[in-house]
Amino acid sequence: MTTLYTNIACLTGIGATETALRGKELAALQAISNAWLLIEDAAIAGYGDQSTLPVNKPANIIDVQGGTILPAWCDSHTHLVFGASREQEFVDKIKGLSYAEIAAKGGGILHSAHQLASLSEDELFRLAWQRLQEANALGTGAIEIKSGYGLTVASELKMLRVIRRLKEKAAAPIKASFLGAHAYPAAYKENHEGYLRLIEEEMLPVIAAEKLADYIDVFCEDGFFSAAETERILMAGKRYGLKPKIHANQLHLSGGVQVGVKHHAISVDHLETMDADAIQTLAAASTIGTLLPSAAFFLRMAYQPARQLIDAGAAIALATDFNPGSSPGLDMHFVVSLACIQMKMLPEEAINAATINGAAALELQQITGSISKGKRADFIITKPIPSLAYIPYAFSTNLVQQVLLGGVPVK
Ligand code: NIG
Ligand code: FE
Repeated sequence: MTTLYTNIACLTGIGATETALRGKELAALQAISNAWLLIEDAAIAGYGDQSTLPVNKPANIIDVQGGTILPAWCDSHTHLVFGASREQEFVDKIKGLSYAEIAAKGGGILHSAHQLASLSEDELFRLAWQRLQEANALGTGAIEIKSGYGLTVASELKMLRVIRRLKEKAAAPIKASFLGAHAYPAAYKENHEGYLRLIEEEMLPVIAAEKLADYIDVFCEDGFFSAAETERILMAGKRYGLKPKIHANQLHLSGGVQVGVKHHAISVDHLETMDADAIQTLAAASTIGTLLPSAAFFLRMAYQPARQLIDAGAAIALATDFNPGSSPGLDMHFVVSLACIQMKMLPEEAINAATINGAAALELQQITGSISKGKRADFIITKPIPSLAYIPYAFSTNLVQQVLLGGVPVK
């Protein structure tokens, strides 16, 4: 089917790029005022300003009534598959416990692993599918989803099989990351070697044989996985064809950025705790720094040094880190607002970081993340808004008029 969208006040996020935008490029967000957009089946077939409107119009014409069109958000870091919310910890934190203290007393990730163990694959799929529908309705298209609340062979595989089913049914691309190294399970608290070998010898071979993951992730952090342990797991992942995409420098200077860059990680994510060496190392690499400001917001931590990273020439993306412990929010619009309000990113930088650079952090920049001929028709039509800066400015307002994924309207 061919559909012509007309009366677009601003069509933005236009263009194609081979690699993530970095440094000054990040602020360059191409836009056309008074535009049209032509969709053929699932793909973008053309666009332009009103004066170039196609003469042969398709039967299906949609007047977006002065709305703005931008690419769908690409959320390149989520933990969307989990058993249940953890608002009791949220209250514990209000009462003064730290994230690390909650984790140390068996809460946190281990609590989620305990909850997940008792749920069937079907039940987990049902819960995750609902969350994915919510994300899509908020404007998220491509998304990454991690395992990591399993921490046993059976449960890690169960999570990854849920993600595979989500991939098969979803309206937009999904990438899966194996995060067996999210926390040491209680049974291996004193036996790290045993758990590392479980990952290497029992999890990875099955994951590779069943093609259950695209990436390997590790929570490189004090009290979780050291830089040396991270390196060992990344090397094991590599033997099974999994590229690294890791949690780095969230709570401490963990060495995660350096180990990720050394192993050509697609991205190193979090980056709340950075020093000059970590910033320079990332700026000199092709690895993308994925900033997760809603996790910093929720944990009342210092925000990621976005300005320093951009000014140093690093490639950065924005994502939600959606998970029940440190970021129970799926809304990329809120992440974009936080990036501007708290990290002083320009609206154009934040939109690029949340779309095309998010796509690059999933190696999907050739197929989604921008308005470009031949790319998937994954885009958001907003209600009429005065300018692009209004998007981050109007931080808790639902600006979505319609979301289209693969050319199909999201219900
Ligand atoms: O990215 N930091 C590690 N993992 C998650 C939190 C997981 C949890 O608390 O359940 C994160 O913030
Ligand atoms: Fe995370």
